Amino acid sequence: MCGIVGYVGRKNATDILLEGLKRLEYRGYDSAGLAVMGTEAKLKVVKAVGKTVFLEEKLTREPATGQAGIAHTRWATHGVPSEANAHPHLDCAGRLALVHNGIVENHEELKRRLEALGHRFVSATDTEVLAHLIEEHARHRPFEEALCAALKEVVGTFGLAVVMVDQPRTVYGARRGSPLVVGVGRDGENYLASDPAALIAHTRDIIYLGDDEVVRLDDNGIETFSLDRVRVTKAPETVSWSLQEIERGHHPHFMVKEIHEQPTVVRNALAGRLDARQGMSVLGGLKDVDERLRRAERLTISACGSAYLAGAIGAMMIEECAEIPVRAEIASELRYRKPIFDANREAFIAVSQSGETADTLGALREAKNKGVLTLGIVNVVGSAVARETDAGVFVHAGPEIAVASTKAFTAQLTVFALLAMHLGRQRRLSLAAGQRLAEELASLPEKVERLLEQDEAIRLLAKKYSRYPSFLYIGRKYNAPLANEGALKLKEVSYVHAEGYAAGEMKHGPIALLDDGFPVFAIATKDSLQEKVKSNVQEAKARRAPIVVLASEGDEAMAQLADDVIWVPRTTEMLSPILNVIPMQLFAYHLAVARGLDPDKPRNLAKAVTVE
Ligand code: M6R
Repeated sequence: MCGIVGYVGRKNATDILLEGLKRLEYRGYDSAGLAVMGTEAKLKVVKAVGKTVFLEEKLTREPATGQAGIAHTRWATHGVPSEANAHPHLDCAGRLALVHNGIVENHEELKRRLEALGHRFVSATDTEVLAHLIEEHARHRPFEEALCAALKEVVGTFGLAVVMVDQPRTVYGARRGSPLVVGVGRDGENYLASDPAALIAHTRDIIYLGDDEVVRLDDNGIETFSLDRVRVTKAPETVSWSLQEIERGHHPHFMVKEIHEQPTVVRNALAGRLDARQGMSVLGGLKDVDERLRRAERLTISACGSAYLAGAIGAMMIEECAEIPVRAEIASELRYRKPIFDANREAFIAVSQSGETADTLGALREAKNKGVLTLGIVNVVGSAVARETDAGVFVHAGPEIAVASTKAFTAQLTVFALLAMHLGRQRRLSLAAGQRLAEELASLPEKVERLLEQDEAIRLLAKKYSRYPSFLYIGRKYNAPLANEGALKLKEVSYVHAEGYAAGEMKHGPIALLDDGFPVFAIATKDSLQEKVKSNVQEAKARRAPIVVLASEGDEAMAQLADDVIWVPRTTEMLSPILNVIPMQLFAYHLAVARGLDPDKPRNLAKAVTVE
């Protein structure tokens, strides 16, 4: 899996495909390739291992010209990164080329069958089986029917694009569980991509394909149909992202650009949603389900990675404000357990930046099957989670390009605070408490700005700590999941081992690790448990661990205990993670840079994990 681009029009397809691939580079990949259909009804396939610039260089030596084609950046799942395993994959006759995101779970069984029929395979991928399967079906029926019949045999997920020489001005796309969108262009130009970011230089009118839908792009335009070949009418939606939002501008990396966007991100997440006088939040996306929400007696939140950690903090916010039990569950676990839902009195919340994470979707579908009201807290409008939930709240963080989630996480926390306020005011949260919360929320963007002024100081700090092999992050209550988020950020971009722990747990095991070579990063801002965190810091200090603390502005007593301190503006305990996360993001970013790494493209990671 990783990025897909397709094009049919009058321009040089290679240029458009390459440009689209570059816009998808942020998603992580290890090889790239494209197939372009030339005028002489021949497929030109070029692939390269490594960066898209290697593919570009190869194309200068082996030009591929034509007006229709498909391209792919691959992130290895089956088979090592190599030219043979890079997409596009071909059928035996070399008349069909296909690129694919997702996993063909029954590929071994299909391959055995196809080999017995004489098909020869040249790669170690699961994807190649699709090219041969379509070829096999096409022996007995027209191409389009063959494509649908082949896809019906697939167990697993796909977002794919196919071209074939008999239809030199046609590109097909299909989706099940892995995103694929159509870009509606002008003057007979149309596009395919796994992510709208690849297309917005050309069009903002996007059609989101649903599961088991197929699309044909050709000179007659765009036609979508089901795998049963029943026509599906789909209207384009306009994506509001600007080109500027998906470009790095003067920033050296997307990650730091996105960290610095956070004052605006928090402002946007709050925009039009705070009624300060009534101490209420106004969440238009929940209007239709408000009465069901009022009756809800418990909630389940489910997500993966950073979105899960935002959910774990959100669960505490809702419990505090609304006084109903809320559980936060890792989606890959929840979906395969036997979760007990109370369909009449429960609501389920899926949290996802991309809205396409396979496990989050799996958990969401499990909850839907049990008849629970489902809500989404999502960034990408039109994504699968947004479409499949009954209602929801968009976080409006704008496109998040860096693999490490920063601004989406902060926006998710902000939306959780709004939701907690909403559910709280439906129940027992007083007007005065609601007003205080609204006031505090409104003051956050300016406080985030103040935090970002410490960027240079945090860079120097990260440099100082950049050679330690391990870190322990600790925090309590709202800041316990945040300690995990700090550790996750550090490990994913700097490859430094880091663990996040509820500070009270330190003495139950991890303290054994501590010595003068194992720093502790303590979230110790002023709150109801600060004295306890202070004790934990003292325990770590007694083991000679270097100590970095996040302390509330002016808290000299806390600073005295630490080797290094990062000052954080004061806010309420519940909202403290929204501020505390910012320096931890900067610390991880600068530490990665100090170690000579590119934080935007962490090894082995993909931006949207659309496979289990
Ligand atoms: O798109 P999602 O929010 O569903 O993604 C969930 C995780 O894959 C994501 O948060 C991941 O943990 C990030 N790399 C964290 O920085």
